[in-house]
Amino acid sequence: MQQDSLHNIAEQKRKTVNTPEFTEDGRYMRKVRSFVLRTGRLSEAQKRAMNDNWAFFGLEHQQQPFDFAKIFGNTHPVILEIGFGMGQSLVTMAKQNPQYNYLGIEVHTPGVGACIATALEQKVNNLRVICHDAIEILQDNISDNSLAGLQLFFPDPWQKAKHHKRRIVQTPFIELIMQKLTPNGFIHMATDWENYAEHMLEVLRSQSNLSNTSITNDFIPRPDSRPLTKFEQRGQRLGHGVWDLYFIKNQ
Ligand SMILES: C[S@@+](CC[C@H](N)C(=O)[O-])C[C@H]1O[C@@H](n2cnc3c(N)ncnc32)[C@H](O)[C@@H]1O
Repeated sequence: MQQDSLHNIAEQKRKTVNTPEFTEDGRYMRKVRSFVLRTGRLSEAQKRAMNDNWAFFGLEHQQQPFDFAKIFGNTHPVILEIGFGMGQSLVTMAKQNPQYNYLGIEVHTPGVGACIATALEQKVNNLRVICHDAIEILQDNISDNSLAGLQLFFPDPWQKAKHHKRRIVQTPFIELIMQKLTPNGFIHMATDWENYAEHMLEVLRSQSNLSNTSITNDFIPRPDSRPLTKFEQRGQRLGHGVWDLYFIKNQ
């Protein structure tokens, strides 16, 4: 039975990344989400990587907070990346930094499969992935003061003003992240959409318990430690600029 459900994990995840919520009188509650589920199919290789290795790499949304020491088998600091896309840059970072544990969240199932396939290829084992809405994972599964950092690289820019409410970076989101970060924990964001970059800066600056590491008090030069992401590469081809923001939580 358990074997069966593990074998179909890739297919299951395509349908269940959201937990439905209901009002007191039982009506479905429509939430503003930062993503639209794309229908992209998993390749055979992605499906196999996910189905055969979910027991090691995959974590599920659950009712209790995660026990990172048990999950990773050590007490190294944990860095969370939300929306890792195909996961190539996340795997590269995990490989380059074995002194950290990495937790990646992505709702796009082919991306989760691709990330696991690359992690296997690269023999990376300080990484776990979750295929679920990051907001629910943060609320339900991440303990306060437990993250050494948050990475948010090229979140969906939701370019039209009427869609700005869907942007993941909003004050309540940053307040939630602030609870989860340890003192000295970092927030590293990057975007290729100038209007979103300005919005990120405004939201981060309004947190009195965060310090901007930018010497110009706005953006930082693109750090070499951040591998080029797939979305960034596409932006480069289109001639887009890139804005990196790096803030630290005060003691
Ligand atoms: C524009 S893509 C960028 C992907 C990758 N970081 C890159 O630079 O190539 C943004 C990704 O965030 C994911 N995403 C958006 N909101 C999310 C959420 N609430 N939880 C998990 N993933 C989310 C989307 O599925 C999408 O793959």
